[in-house]
Amino acid sequence: MASAHTPCNDNAAAKKNGDGGTPITDAEIRTEFAHHDRSVASVNNGSFGCCPGSPGLARSRAAVAALVGAGDASEISLVDNATTAAAIVMQHVAWSFAEGAFQRGDAVLMLLYTYSSVKKSIHAYVARAGAHVVEVPLPFPVASPAAIVASFRAALALAQSGGRRRVRLAVIDHITSMPSVVVPVKELVAICREEGVDKVFVDAAHAIGQVRVDVRDVGADFYASNLHKWLFCPSAVAFLHVRKGDPAAAQMHHPVVSSAYGNGLPMESAWIGVRDYSAQLVVPDAVDFVARFEGGVDGVSRRNHDKVVDMGLMLAEAWGTFLGSPPEMCGSMAMVGLPGCFGIDSDDDATRLRTMLRKDYKVEVPIFHNSRTQAVAITDANGDQVTGYVRISHQVYNVREEYEVLRDAVNKLVLDGFCCTQLRPSSPSQNQKMLAH
Ligand SMILES: Cc1ncc(COP(=O)(O)O)c(C=O)c1O
Repeated sequence: MASAHTPCNDNAAAKKNGDGGTPITDAEIRTEFAHHDRSVASVNNGSFGCCPGSPGLARSRAAVAALVGAGDASEISLVDNATTAAAIVMQHVAWSFAEGAFQRGDAVLMLLYTYSSVKKSIHAYVARAGAHVVEVPLPFPVASPAAIVASFRAALALAQSGGRRRVRLAVIDHITSMPSVVVPVKELVAICREEGVDKVFVDAAHAIGQVRVDVRDVGADFYASNLHKWLFCPSAVAFLHVRKGDPAAAQMHHPVVSSAYGNGLPMESAWIGVRDYSAQLVVPDAVDFVARFEGGVDGVSRRNHDKVVDMGLMLAEAWGTFLGSPPEMCGSMAMVGLPGCFGIDSDDDATRLRTMLRKDYKVEVPIFHNSRTQAVAITDANGDQVTGYVRISHQVYNVREEYEVLRDAVNKLVLDGFCCTQLRPSSPSQNQKMLAH
């Protein structure tokens, strides 16, 4: 047995084999695995593997709690993504219907531009349990936060149906995905409180790293943000915040039920069966990475905001169009109107144009088709109606030249007399092929 050397029982071997940093000692190894139950002879690494204490999930949750103004790490659950966070909330609300706390026909409010997977989650869990779903018809292009507040108030009044209907849940995006607009989320949450809405879920998938996040200041019941979008974490990790002491906290469960069921959402989320924890474990490293930039996470988002607005205005000027929202409603993303002569008439047109820009002009940028008819047509400098927008992003690695490639590609298409009709396939089967491409 003396010859059975492993890094765990032979410090000399660890020293010899390690190729960086301070060699680990026997004492440190014991500390790293102190969470193992010493009353059990753990000779079964094979079933579950092992994880040293130092890259623990608790550290990741504490790092997130500090970053977003949570009371402490017990308010933070780490989940795979915003879609999972939404499912946790929707499942919780669906049980409130199923168990009689909420009544069939009570309302649930969501924004017109709520992300598709979250809308589907609302329908799959909450509408199926008996909720009446009401959409807030947001204006776009949008002139001011006040325009969103006005739409929200009007839709809420409609949902309340003159006081005859209870609104049980409002789902509010912090930054809508498409079109991208920073929503005055704190004001909307305050309106929900005034109006007696039972629960408010803020889907902030895009928020952390784009805008300052202070979950207590926002004041929602549930607040979730991806960490893999704008906080430099690898896929897939997000957080869901629920206030300590909120009675809902004890009743919320991860949709994947494991042996951790009943130990609280943070614990349930930490154990959903054997899985890859890498993304969750590197959260503190991502937080350290962002702290190396001047001003930390706030400095990064401020500079990205300034740059994306500059680039958006540069494009709008070159194309004779405009931004889809005022600068204060942009985070690190901005919507820029495309020339009306492109004739973008459908989501399929937008997809095909995006594909062409990627393949033929080496620009990757999502395109939004504005399907809503406006009372007054919104036109570009040539008087053509603007029906499509690019959503540009700015992250620390972007340079001006990349936006100039986009500018020039669009200008060349205009000069060539391009119109989306040229990309439309003549038969439905061709259509399918193009979209799959
Ligand atoms: C507003 C919003 N909610 C939810 C999601 C879903 O995020 P994920 O795919 O990471 O679950 C997204 C993705 O872009 C989003 O923009």
